[in-house]
Amino acid sequence: MKVTVLGAAGGIGQALSLLLKTQLPAGSDLSLYDIAPVTPGVAVDLSHIPTQVAIKGFAGEDPTAALEGADIVLISAGVARKPGMDRSDLFNINAGIVKNLIEKVALTCPKACIGIITNPVNTTVPIAAEVLKNAGVYDPAKLFGITTLDVIRSETFLAEAKGLNPADVKINVIGGHSGVTILPLISQTGLDFSDAEIAAMTTRIQNAGTEVVEAKAGGGSATLSMGQAAARFCLSLVKASQGEDVIECAYVDGGSEHSKFFAQPIKLGPSGVKEVLGYGEISAFEKQAIEGMLETLDGDIKIGVDFV
Ligand code: NAD
Ligand code: LMR
Repeated sequence: MKVTVLGAAGGIGQALSLLLKTQLPAGSDLSLYDIAPVTPGVAVDLSHIPTQVAIKGFAGEDPTAALEGADIVLISAGVARKPGMDRSDLFNINAGIVKNLIEKVALTCPKACIGIITNPVNTTVPIAAEVLKNAGVYDPAKLFGITTLDVIRSETFLAEAKGLNPADVKINVIGGHSGVTILPLISQTGLDFSDAEIAAMTTRIQNAGTEVVEAKAGGGSATLSMGQAAARFCLSLVKASQGEDVIECAYVDGGSEHSKFFAQPIKLGPSGVKEVLGYGEISAFEKQAIEGMLETLDGDIKIGVDFV
């Protein structure tokens, strides 16, 4: 497998690249690209870690060399939030960055699975889909908005609240990746919470990104936990490519009765999405939360489609 990280010199990119250097299967290739001139140096630094993962770094205006032969492309290139900003405030800069990078992916490695981290995810994923369509290489089964951070946060916070090992908490988080569009299906976990506790926990999970942005006080948003989340998702794609059925939640095109793009549980296989799984029985609170998110989510999607 060859995995390429675009935005690899950034906060997420470096953490993610470290985790991939240590956790990708032996024989894998890891390719790092960023406009920042330090990127080949990041790769040299990581190359001293004794694993059988070959690593190369590329900087400059053109990601083509980094993308050649890639099976998986992870994109965290772009700007991050500062206190007082919404994810949608990043659109003006990040939309163009994602569009340009996806144009290169379409030309260089059109069959790769693409995981988009760059915010606003609700909009950058539809942008990527439109660019790939225009290039005639769009496969909805291979395009993912990475929402795994919402899942690992939910696992962590629920385990903390109940004194459990987070590894024992399993939860689906559906919808999108911003504010009210993030919906953890707490009712399905089997954990005993009152209605008020579920409402408070849902709000905490929806605001967890802002919690980090405020704690970093102008120094950026979540990078280390996101690196972990993206590494988990990437390693699930790798396992699936080797024939294992793996289930993750991700923001994908199709399979939802609600919106064209929707984060939902999916079964991964060798060619990306093998099956979109229904999210099952949900509570009245969760049904109402879905109704409440759709206008925002559909608006975010339309902005992306209109941009391209
Ligand atoms: P960062 O500023 O630390 O890193 C971004 C990197 O992108 C920088 O190294 C920069 O040089 C690079 N870059 C900018 N334009 C580029 C281009 N055209 N080509 C290649 N590289 C380019 O930011 P970060 O903290 O790593 O966050 C990156 C993005 O991820 C932000 O948009 C942030 O909002 C988003 N994010 C998403 C999630 C999620 O759950 N999906 C979580 C956290 C952050
Ligand atoms: C997060 O959820 O931490 C990311 O989307 C970054 C942000 O801006 O909140």
